[in-house]
This record gives sequence, C-alpha cells and structure tokens, in this order.
Amino acid sequence: MDLLIKGGTLVTAQSTFKADIAVVNGKISAIGKNLKADKNTEVIDAKGKLVLPGAIDGHTHLAMPFGGTISTDDYYAGTRSAACGGTTTVFDFILQAKGEPMQDAIKRRDALAAPDAAVDYSFHIGVTDVSTDELLDSMEEAVQAGIPSFKVFMVYDFGVDDGSFYRVLQKAAGIGALVGVHAENREVNNVLIKQFLAEGKTEAWWHYVSKKEDVEGEADVRAINLAKMAGTSLYIVHLANKQGVEAVKEARDQGYPIFAETCPQYLYFTSEVYKRERARDFVCSPPMKGKASQEALWEAIKSGDIATVATDHCPFTRAEKDWGIVTKDGKPGNFTTIPNGCAGIETMYPYMLSEANKGRITFNKVVELCATNPAKLFGLDHQKGALQVGLDADIVLYDKKKEFTITNSAMHGDTDHTIWEGVSLKGYPVATYSRGRLVYKEGEFLGKRGEGKLIKCKPIKLTTPEL
Ligand code: URP
Ligand code: ZN
Ligand code: ZN
Repeated sequence: MDLLIKGGTLVTAQSTFKADIAVVNGKISAIGKNLKADKNTEVIDAKGKLVLPGAIDGHTHLAMPFGGTISTDDYYAGTRSAACGGTTTVFDFILQAKGEPMQDAIKRRDALAAPDAAVDYSFHIGVTDVSTDELLDSMEEAVQAGIPSFKVFMVYDFGVDDGSFYRVLQKAAGIGALVGVHAENREVNNVLIKQFLAEGKTEAWWHYVSKKEDVEGEADVRAINLAKMAGTSLYIVHLANKQGVEAVKEARDQGYPIFAETCPQYLYFTSEVYKRERARDFVCSPPMKGKASQEALWEAIKSGDIATVATDHCPFTRAEKDWGIVTKDGKPGNFTTIPNGCAGIETMYPYMLSEANKGRITFNKVVELCATNPAKLFGLDHQKGALQVGLDADIVLYDKKKEFTITNSAMHGDTDHTIWEGVSLKGYPVATYSRGRLVYKEGEFLGKRGEGKLIKCKPIKLTTPEL
C-alpha cells in the first residue's frame, strides 16, 4: 500500500461516514475501518477533516484565443490553480478551426495540454464548422478517440445557426455523444448592441442589458426544443437565468434527458456587479443576472434540476479588461471590446463547500454537483468522480474550521485579479491528491508540470433525466 488516509470523514454523493482510504498505484484499493499500513505506506492523519473526491471542472478555457487575445492561464497555470482549489480533473474547450476535422482539433490542443497539465484533463469540442458531411462525421472519430462531448455556441461570430446545431444534435444521437450549448439569442443581442452603442451607452452595464434574462432564456427554450426534435440529450452550460431554469425543469418533468450546469459566479454575484467601479472585470457571457434568477438557480440545485457546477474559467488581465475603456488599438472602448470571461478554477470547490458548511446545501450535494455528476455525464465514472475502490485516488482533505478570505495573491494561477477578491469562506481544502500524488498542501502547490494525463471518456448515452 502506498498511501493510507486514516480517520477522516468520507463524503460521497450519497452518504457521509468515518473510514480510512488505502491507495495503491494511484487507485483507491480499499475503504474501511482500521485499515492497516505496511512498512512502506505513507500514513496521513485525517482526523477532524472531511475526505472528498477531487472536483471535476466540466468547463474551462485555458490558453484560449478569444476576444482579441488569449485567456491568461495556460494548461500549467490553470491546472496548478485547479489543484490548489481541490479540482483534480478539468474539461477544457477545444475550439474547432474552420474546416478542421474533430480528431485534428483534439491533436492540436493536446499538443499544448500534455506537456503542461499538472492534473488530469479531458476535452469538449466547441463545434464551429459542420458545413460538410465529412466534418459532421468526424464527430464519430472524436467519440472513438475518447472525446464524446461537444458544445455549440448560439452566440458569438463563431457560433452556429439552428440548422447546424440541429445537425450536430442528430449526429450525436447516433454516436454516443453529448451536446452542450451556450444559449444566448445572437440576433437580439446584436440588435441591442447596435442600439446601445448608437445611444452612447458604452459601459459594462450595457453588456448585461444586451444579454439580459430573456435573451438567454429564449435561447434555452429553443435549444431544448431542438434537442427534443432531434430525439437526443442536451447539456446547457453556464445556465444563469430563471426562464431557462423553468424550461429545463419542465423538460425534465416530461422525461427528457435535459441537463444543466451553472457556475459559482451566478450563484454568488448578481447583475448589480455591473454598477461597480471595475464592472468590466465581471464581463462574461452569459452575464450575471438579477436576484430572481439567482434564487431560481439555488432552488434548481436543491431540486436536482441543475446537474453540475463548473467554472467557465476564462481569465483575462486587468489591462485586457481595460480595453472596454481604450481598445488595444488606442480607440475609445465599449462593453463589446472587453474580453468575455473571469477566473474561477481555484475558487469553485471552496465556494461550494463553504456554502455547504454554512448550511445552504449538504456536502453530499456539493460532491454530486462538482464531482460525481460531471463524471457520469461526460463518460468518466469508470475512472473518476467518487470515493470508490478501483477509481483514481483523486482525493481532497477539507478543514471545516479553516477561515479563508479570497485574495488574488493567495491564488495559484497567472491572473492578476479575481472577481472573488475579499469574499470570506467558511472552511477550505488543505490537501489535494491527484492519482495518489500530493499536489497541494496548505497553500502550496506541490505538483509538477506535465504529470496530468489526458483522460479518455466512454461514449455517452443519456435517455432519461436521471443520471
Ligand atoms: O465569458 C465567457 N464565458 N467566456 C468564455 C467563453 C464561453 O462563452 O464560455
Ligand atoms: Zn459559453
Ligand atoms: Zn465557457
């Protein structure tokens, strides 16, 4: 036995109990009371600590070309930061280039990720071009290569139209793939942008208004209808509005395999942040919404209608956010010239666990949202997402008594600010193991560049709302 974590309180999606965990060759080899170490075993005293599965962040954008620049955290900085927040697997988005077969897109991005990743990773493919049958058919090769999840964007200039979205959904149904969607109504968004800019409304607040509640909600409803028409499952990423929550709930109540993800930023902040002095730092898509949407998201977490919490980690520097004032070409900026996205990879699990520690939801629920459900949804539950014999020893020790105030200087990414600055958490992860290797301990990153592995996922077949 290589490692024995003794005397902790294990938290799974289903239950909480005291037990020891033994690790051999990076896998959990036994769970039970009074497990005995042998002479080569490293023994960790976890008395008084919660022992949790490492989180799986189902939505990151590392080193992503976007908004006229590249997101700040590369695969090393991003996964280093993830490890220090208790996240042991990240699903990063590959953006397919025009005319690029899916398997080429995987190879292109893995060449960047493999030498750098400090924790395990996999990919979703952001589909931008299915203009030929060959490109559409190449989705199947991605599934065979262990990348069975795709995302379409209903917004942005690289987004697809409803016809292409529908073709991707049809294709996915037959090949064991899951389609995720960034749902916002591009046409309405573009009309509002034009009108606001013509009226001299340039501040970050107008980013929110141009993508307000119903701009997202309409697209959620349309995306669900397209999935129903194609007879397949759907995963709505970064859900942030009440109308969308209601549409997801209704479809699930009718028995459709519709799943939703939300992010901590929508659970903690509201659109009021766009009135702050540095409102531009909070510009992301979809934007934070009003209180009613936030309450609906928390209710949907409690009812099980939101399946996962992920980060949408896509950080940019303050200087890049300042392009909302003066663009990089020295022209007057506005809310459309701010790169969209915020950092969150290191704060997701700590924030969600803190909410559990404060009594809003159970720790089991957090494990379900941040580890077990992402593993099930993305075809990874044969290897990750739970404290279970035979699975990877991705394990987090959590101190419920540790008080922690988020500051950017305490984070481990390459970003120069965090929208979470000054937020107080109750409890914090104190150690992270990635396949049995200690990669984080009490504020310090102990992992290594390149030790993370590409995880191949199984084909995904979701036919009911249950996971
Ligand atoms: O603002 C965001 N979310 N940036 C990343 C790209 C996306 O839409 O997920
Ligand atoms: Zn998105
Ligand atoms: Zn995203």
